[in-house]
Amino acid sequence: MLKPRNQNNKLSENHWLVVGSSGSGKTTAVKQLGMVKATDQVAIFDPYLDYEDLCGREVRRYTSLSKFARALFSARAAKQSRGFKIAYSPSDGANPKNLEAFSKIIWGAGDGLHKKPLKVVMEELAKCVTTSGKATGAFGEILTGGRKFGLEAICIFQRGQEVPKTIVGNCPNKWVGRQQRLNDAVYLSKELDFPVDAIKALPRYHYLVKTNDHDIGEYGSGKLRKLR
Ligand SMILES: Nc1ncnc2c1ncn2[C@@H]1O[C@H](COP(=O)(O)OP(=O)(O)O)[C@@H](O)[C@H]1O
Ligand SMILES: [Mg+2]
Repeated sequence: MLKPRNQNNKLSENHWLVVGSSGSGKTTAVKQLGMVKATDQVAIFDPYLDYEDLCGREVRRYTSLSKFARALFSARAAKQSRGFKIAYSPSDGANPKNLEAFSKIIWGAGDGLHKKPLKVVMEELAKCVTTSGKATGAFGEILTGGRKFGLEAICIFQRGQEVPKTIVGNCPNKWVGRQQRLNDAVYLSKELDFPVDAIKALPRYHYLVKTNDHDIGEYGSGKLRKLR
C-alpha cells in the first residue's frame, strides 16, 4: 500500500461530516459554505457526477483509477501551492471496492509538510461501507490518521445509522440537513449533539452546522441559496 509522508502532529483535524436526506442540499452545502474553496487542492469521489465544476473551477474527471492517481500525484507534486479539483468517477458507481481503491490513492497522497492540505470529498458513503461499526482499510486511515498528513475528509451520506461511528468520532465539523424520518433525527441528535427538535424542524435546504469554532452545545443554522 502507498504510504503518506512527513507525519506532522501539529496539524489539526478538519474533517467534515455532511448528512441529510436525498435532496436536502448536501452537495450544494459543500459547494456553497466554504468547505472547499477555489484555491484548494481537492480530490473527489464522485460516482454520480455531481461535480461538473466546483467553486468556479473546472473538475478534471477520470473513470480510470490509474489515470486519476497519475493526475492527482502530478498536481500535488508539480506546483505545491496551486489549487486543483480532480474527480474519480468509477464506471460501476458507488461501492466499497471503489471507495477503498480511491482511499488508498488518497492515503498515499498525504504529506504532513505539504503547503496545502488535500481536501477529500466523498459522496454516497452509505453505499461504500460494509459496516456501521469501525471504518476499516485506507478509508478508516484517512479518518483516524489523515490529520497528521494534511488530509481533510468531507464525508457525505444520507442517514447516520448507515455509516461507521468512526466518521462521527473524527469529524469536528458537522452539517445536518433535513431528515425524512423521526428516527433518523433522534439518532443524529444523540450522536452529533444537536437538539432533536431543531433537527426535526428543518425544511429542505435549511441546515444546522457545528465547527471547530463552536463551543460545546453551540451551533449555527442557515438556509442554502440555489446555485446559479
Ligand atoms: N435554496 C435552494 N432553493 C432551491 N433549490 C435548491 C436550493 N438549494 C439547493 N437546491 C437544489 O436542490 C437540488 C438538491 O440539492 P443537492 O445539494 O443536490 O442535495 P443532496 O446533495 O442532499 O441530494 C439541486 O438541484 C439543487 O440545485
Ligand atoms: Mg448530493
